[in-house]
Order: sequence, then C-alpha cells, then structure tokens
Amino acid sequence: MTDASRKFVTPLTFEAVSGNKVHTDTFQDALSHITLTAAADLMIIAPATANSIAKFACGIADDMLSTCFLSFRGKVIIAPAMNWRMYENRALRENLRALVSRGAVQAGPERGSLACGDEAVGRMSEVGEILEYARSALTRKDLSGKKIIVTAGPTREYLDPVRFLSNRSSGKMGFALAREALRRGAEVVLISGPSSLAPLRKAEFFAVETAEEMRKAVFENLKGSSAVIMAAAVSDFSPDTKDRRKKEKSDVLSLPLKKTPDILAEIGSMKKRPFLVGFAAETGACTDRARRKLLAKGADMIVFNDVDSPGSGFDVGTNQVTLIDKNGESPFPLMPKDEVAGIILDRIVDFIP
Ligand code: PMT
Repeated sequence: MTDASRKFVTPLTFEAVSGNKVHTDTFQDALSHITLTAAADLMIIAPATANSIAKFACGIADDMLSTCFLSFRGKVIIAPAMNWRMYENRALRENLRALVSRGAVQAGPERGSLACGDEAVGRMSEVGEILEYARSALTRKDLSGKKIIVTAGPTREYLDPVRFLSNRSSGKMGFALAREALRRGAEVVLISGPSSLAPLRKAEFFAVETAEEMRKAVFENLKGSSAVIMAAAVSDFSPDTKDRRKKEKSDVLSLPLKKTPDILAEIGSMKKRPFLVGFAAETGACTDRARRKLLAKGADMIVFNDVDSPGSGFDVGTNQVTLIDKNGESPFPLMPKDEVAGIILDRIVDFIP
C-alpha cells in the first residue's frame, strides 16, 4: 500500500480481510521488494493513480509499490482510477501508452459516477472485470488465430406478441465457453437467446430471440470459423402460426406446433464445415440418446448433460457432463461451468489444426 492509499483505508483492514501481511515500507524488511515480486506470477495495480502510473512509466522507485513494480518480471495489469480531467491529461495518456507498449495490460477505467460527483470516464473497472484480465493474462493462448462461434441461452417461440414457448436455460454454460475461449486467445462470436447475463466485452455479441434468428446469426458468422459450439437450448418446436394481436384465452386451448430449424444438424450436413460440438440435455444418466444425436446430427462431439442430477444443467453454476466423440465417452464429475468449458475447449484444441 502507498502512503496515499493509507489515507483511505488502513493496512489493518486489508490484513484482516485478506489474511495476508500488508507491505508499506521498503526499508522495514530490506529485501521484500525483491522477494515478494520474485515469487509472484502477476502484478495488479488497482486502483492505479496518475502519480503511480507516472512513476512506473519513468522508472521512479521511491516507495514500496514503485520499487516492487520496477523489480517485477511478470505480467502487469494496471487499473487506472482518477478524475476525468486527470485521465484526459496528455502526460497521463502518454505514460499509460508507454506502459502498454512495454507489455502492461490496461484494464479500464469505466464511465461512471466519480468522487467529484461528475459522471465521466475515470472510475476503476469492476473487480470481476479486472479478475477477468488476470485470468486471461495467466491462460495459455492455445486458441489464438481461431474463430469460435458459441450459442447460449434459450430461444423464445412466440404464439402472439406476449406469449411464447421457451425453457429454463440461463445462458451460463454458453457464456462460460465464450469467456474461456476469449481467455485462450480466440476470436469469439457469442450468439445468445434472452439471458440476464451481461454481454462479454471482447466477444462479438448477437442477441437473438427465436430459433430462426439464431440460425440466421450462426450462418452469417460461419465463414472462417474453426469451431461451432451449440450450447443453446434451442426450442424444438414453435407455434404453427404467430398472431400479430394477443390471442383470446379461448383460442389457445390447444396449440398446433411445427418443428424449428435444426441448426446443429444443418451444419452437420455441410461438406466443408468447422469442428462441430453439440450439447444433449437429457433427463437420466444413460448416454444412448446423446450418442444417437451425435450420429443423427453429424456433429464431431456431443456434450452429454444429465440435467436431472442435482447441481447440473439449467440455471446453475455447475454442470456434470460426459464428452462423447468417435473415440468413445469421457465422463467428468460435477464441476463449475468455467471448468466444464475448459475441458471442452481442451478437447477442441486437440482436434482443430
Ligand atoms: O444455459 P444454462 O442455464 O447454463 O444451461 C445449460 C444447458 C443445460 C442449456 C446446456 O448445457 C445444454 O445442455 N444445452 C443444450 C440443450 C438442448 O437443447 O439439448 P437438445 O438435446 O434439445 O439439442 C441437441 C443439440 O442440438 C444442442 O446442441 C442444441 O443447441 C441443438 N439444436 C436443438 C434444436 C434445434 N432446433 N437446433 C439445434 O441446433
């Protein structure tokens, strides 16, 4: 912690919440500015003031933080936070540019309400956002140069302007796949049905509602892609007709349906196509139906998803999957969706050139 930061929060507070010793004085322990940074994989400066940024850019080492910065050899993430007038200053901008050109990663700042009461750019990025930069900095870029299309969430099939058929998909699995592919350096196109999750900043994002719209977005982006991962729970049926006006209650006692376009099967039938991954949400632990889907839809891999088992499937943070491809089946235990995304992408990396 710098002198300035200790005017806002005491070291004791950080020691209590982190369970770690807080270092403030370069001379308290003569070599700590070397031993601390030698043991670290990543350095995050958050919030980074204009003063610290200027010191880093010029190589000034006159306190614990700037001395550590100078001795550190790994990846650095800088999350600036300051008044918008200072952020627009040319000296600050040039200092930041110099640091980025030497390999530092700049995270933010964002537009928001500042300490002076103004609404402008200068607010430190959300912690989750900075953590995402950290994860990305520590992830092997084994998908760089690859374009990956991911579908997520449910579709809505309208019978009139206010009523629709849909399912419980939250988008979490598809978003986790897109996030992990971005961390690994891929160019990601994320096509999602209605979801409460925020679009991923670095992905090209398409918000769709119906199966027909999802199909259109997938095919418009297919060119040049190395893999398509269909994690979306695309509705299998839509109402036969859609009324422009709200239907009378008495008109919908039975609902004629028609099949939606099967996006996975359509890509699977193409002669020249990207590596194709489908999901199979099934109730029950038997993988037979999923294996049949692999063949029927012409996919390269199916992720069997037992949505009956507790903590797995729709609208939860974890999933239990079995990866099925021409080589056989690999079952995995219940794990966070981010980790499920990791094992799926590990497999894809093995297959795509
Ligand atoms: O979004 P979450 O809350 O995180 O939940 C994740 C999930 C359970 C939705 C996800 O893990 C999952 O299993 N997604 C696929 C669900 C599904 O629709 O399975 P299916 O067996 O009906 O479809 C098989 C495959 O064909 C899927 O890849 C699906 O995207 C695709 N499909 C289905 C119908 C259709 N008309 N077109 C398609 O492309």
